[in-house]
Amino acid sequence: MKQVTASAPGKIILFGEHFVVKGTRSIASAISRRVYVSITETDSRYIRIISPEAGLDSVIDPETLKPGDPMLAPLASMLEYIRDTLGYRIIPVTIRVKSELPIGAGLGSSAAFSAAFARAFLAFIGEEDSLELVRKISIVGETRAHGKPSGIDTAMAIEGGTIIYKRGENPLKISLSLPEGYSLIVANTGVERSTREVVEFVLGRADKMVKVSSLLYEAADRLIDLALRAFKSGDMELLGELMDVNQGLLYSMGASSGVIERLLWAARKNGALGAKLTGAGWGGSIIVLVEETLSSVIKNVLVDEGALDVFEVSLGEPGVRVEE
Ligand code: PMV
Repeated sequence: MKQVTASAPGKIILFGEHFVVKGTRSIASAISRRVYVSITETDSRYIRIISPEAGLDSVIDPETLKPGDPMLAPLASMLEYIRDTLGYRIIPVTIRVKSELPIGAGLGSSAAFSAAFARAFLAFIGEEDSLELVRKISIVGETRAHGKPSGIDTAMAIEGGTIIYKRGENPLKISLSLPEGYSLIVANTGVERSTREVVEFVLGRADKMVKVSSLLYEAADRLIDLALRAFKSGDMELLGELMDVNQGLLYSMGASSGVIERLLWAARKNGALGAKLTGAGWGGSIIVLVEETLSSVIKNVLVDEGALDVFEVSLGEPGVRVEE
């Protein structure tokens, strides 16, 4: 039976979220946790979608493309685009999704799903080497899932690697990695939030106090240069401090929360070099820089403090790909 599997990585924002919305730079990296999508032939007359991690087993009628579950709206939009704009025929298939990323935690799981689905679908119908098509289809899925995505998540899921991202400009690919002996931990607070609401709140605060906020935005942009230098020279103590300062700026703009601060301080108190929220804030995930020897201790501390998923990641992972 014909089957194709594709996968795409999640991402973290290392520096500059929120500030990026008003045109400063940010650094984002594809992480070593992926979403896998398998497409298999079927005798059924429906498209069936099975996603154990999302607790989903539902169908879409290939004629009407009406989703049987609201969670399938992005998939239905992508199928509609594939049929109505790209002109491909939609046939019944079974779609199995396996996510190594927590869902709704600011780690780009929905963009990774969209990219992996688009890649798998195109490979399934015999369209190879079509990253531009993957991008077009993924953007339709992400827009349906998130309203007005900045594009970081889709760029990361498709291209992989590490980028400096500035609104309205092509992402600049850079190469950076943690030196031996250091780890980056991701922890999911378990608190779901709407990116759009946090972004609106932060922008509202920025407008209320332009004379102060403009300085914070400038500081956030300057942090990018210092962070790149710290990576280059392998100065992880400085990098950790810069993460703390970035967190301070995010706190000032109202993107943090009690749960986030509690987890960050627990990590710092136990020897982390630096820690910050990643993504929109008010929940979602945090990232923590640690010396490898302290990694287990700090992961346990975060779990004890109530974090849901706590794991180490490597940076600059490959983008969307067909799995053998
Ligand atoms: O939580 P996420 O992964 O959707 O990240 C949001 C990042 C922001 O900078 C807050 C918003 C954006 O569109 O860039």
